[in-house]
Amino acid sequence: MINFNKPFITNKELKYIQDAISRGKLSGDGYYTKKCHEFIEKSFRTSKALLTTSCSSALDMAAILIDLKEGDEVIMPSYTFVSTANAVVLRGAKPVFAEIDEDTLNIDPKDIVRKITNKTKAIFPVHYAGVSCDMDSIISIAKSYNLMVVEDAAQGVNAKYNGKYLGTIGDIGCLSFHETKNYVCGEGGAILINQDGELAKRAEIIREKGTNRSQFVRGEVDKYTWVDIGSSYLPSDILAAMLYAQFENLDEINNIRKSIYNKYLELLRPLENKGLLKLPLIPKNCESNYHIFYILLNTPNERDLLMQELKSNGVHATFHYIPLHSSPMGRKFGYREGDLPLTEDISARLLRLPIHTGLKLCDVECIVQSIFKYMKVKV
Ligand SMILES: Cc1ncc(COP(=O)(O)O)c(C=O)c1O
Repeated sequence: MINFNKPFITNKELKYIQDAISRGKLSGDGYYTKKCHEFIEKSFRTSKALLTTSCSSALDMAAILIDLKEGDEVIMPSYTFVSTANAVVLRGAKPVFAEIDEDTLNIDPKDIVRKITNKTKAIFPVHYAGVSCDMDSIISIAKSYNLMVVEDAAQGVNAKYNGKYLGTIGDIGCLSFHETKNYVCGEGGAILINQDGELAKRAEIIREKGTNRSQFVRGEVDKYTWVDIGSSYLPSDILAAMLYAQFENLDEINNIRKSIYNKYLELLRPLENKGLLKLPLIPKNCESNYHIFYILLNTPNERDLLMQELKSNGVHATFHYIPLHSSPMGRKFGYREGDLPLTEDISARLLRLPIHTGLKLCDVECIVQSIFKYMKVKV
């Protein structure tokens, strides 16, 4: 069986976890959490990074930070994970779903503009597959209409747009270190506050159950107390220790994924040239982190049959998001199937192929051979 995903494990995770335990500070904001914060701030160039228990909790924090409330609207793609929308809904606000761009499957800036009303408070762009949204257009729209931008960069860690790291371009960025992502600690995430000042100070408080405990720990106040709303969003230092080991292998992980991605592109190009499928596109101003490798088949039926065929050949390939507007929760907000035809069409034709650091180039050849066989094309 060729697995769809397998986390990269360096030899240092256990050593650092053991060290974290021997330091005796197992809760949040210990030695390794600080090292991770420094690493993210310095390497990805942002003014404030805070580890969280997941990207979902980073998004929840972001929704609190931008003061979302009942009656507000937030524009986001429908082609995303539930957490992007949940963060908004949990504050009583409404997710407004926009179409995606056919080439990158990222939110279409033209549809953002069409969906802006006097209730719109923010845009939550999602960087699909580790390839950036059109951030120049999104930032310019946000400036014109005075909107906040929260990047859902769950899949975009260590990827770039015009030389800037994803998650550091909007007002706030949210990262994921979930087991399925490129850099992992089991369950984990980070919130990036890309401006100095009040937002960063408030983020610390919201993350510490609404208390000013971080200021107390730094000796800035003589006792700590309840000063805002918040929850427990900080992960154990044991998880941060695991994550730090992964950060030390940032480039190695990226390079292995890149070689697999490029091998798929090279071997599958003849099928694209014959019009049998469509390959993903990385715009010139984007540097991918090669998080997902997907192909688009010509019809939903072809996608489903190929997925079955690969499964029977021991290859785990899979579909991706069910568009949120067509989900049971989406319908509760008044959305219907047919509202976003391109999103629905792409979702039904997309197939993700295995990509992880444990995959050998000969595994890629084997997977591609199965696809050629299914398409009845000679290798
Ligand atoms: C776009 C997007 N946002 C948010 C999340 C949630 O990340 P986490 O599992 O770290 O909460 C995911 C997870 O796959 C995702 O793909």
